Amino acid sequence: MVKENILIEAKGIWKSYGNNQVLKGLDLSVYEGETVVILGRSGVGKSVLLRQLMGLEKPDKGTLYVDGFQISDLEGTSLYKAITMMGMLFQGGALFDSMTVIENTTFYLEEHGDPRENGRMLSDEELRAHGIKVLKMVGLEGIEDKMPSELSGGMKKRAALARLIAYRPSILLYDEPTTGLDPITAMQINNLIKNTQKELNATSIVVTHDLRSALTVGDRLALHHEGKIAFIGEKLDFLKSDNPLIRSFLNDAQIRWD
Ligand SMILES: Nc1ncnc2c1ncn2[C@@H]1O[C@H](COP(=O)(O)OP(=O)(O)O)[C@@H](O)[C@H]1O
Ligand SMILES: [Mg+2]
Repeated sequence: MVKENILIEAKGIWKSYGNNQVLKGLDLSVYEGETVVILGRSGVGKSVLLRQLMGLEKPDKGTLYVDGFQISDLEGTSLYKAITMMGMLFQGGALFDSMTVIENTTFYLEEHGDPRENGRMLSDEELRAHGIKVLKMVGLEGIEDKMPSELSGGMKKRAALARLIAYRPSILLYDEPTTGLDPITAMQINNLIKNTQKELNATSIVVTHDLRSALTVGDRLALHHEGKIAFIGEKLDFLKSDNPLIRSFLNDAQIRWD
């Protein structure tokens, strides 16, 4: 991968909730086409960071650029326009309970049109055909008319992923995509994330505390620690780093390499 364009850039991001100072001058640059994995202990502010990047919350201080837009300054329609190329897999999946699986899958496309064709609206036939194709990609063929309540946890996660993929965003944010899944389902999700990255020619940020998942999907790994990105580097550099924070994180992650 050639690192040319920085597509996503966070500069000196501060964010607090009451007395809880969560982000403390965080910097992060993500190049076009890469997958950056953000690792870190529970509660450090990984989800908070994703919400800032997606424009769902404003930082108290600092600047966020996404694809040339200074999204930390935008509101309303201009913010909405700036983030149409982004899609997020929320922690927990969050399917719409009152919609069938295929209605969930095609929801963003139906609402916003196709982001890769200037927001062209799709016909019902096109939506259904596309939805079925994407459900097949995630191994959920034949269940398009079921309700989310009829699905297992792993299937819900795959359906949420289908909803994201169906929209074909060029920037994908994943919040803990494998948390709570058994190892086999988790590996299926990891592979889907990898294939999606290739297929959509996308740029991705994956937040996780699952090192195995990080190593499967990531190009560069970052450690989020005490409100900042304490280290970011290529996978091998991360694993071999003698930075004590990385050593301690890897020790706790308890994965054997042999
Ligand atoms: N909307 C909110 N209101 C108040 N506190 C919040 C909010 N969102 C997150 N926090 C706090 O910010 C910290 C980081 O949370 P989070 O980003 O969810 O952690 P994680 O790294 O596990 O994703 C936690 O202390 C959490 O309680
Ligand atoms: Mg989180």
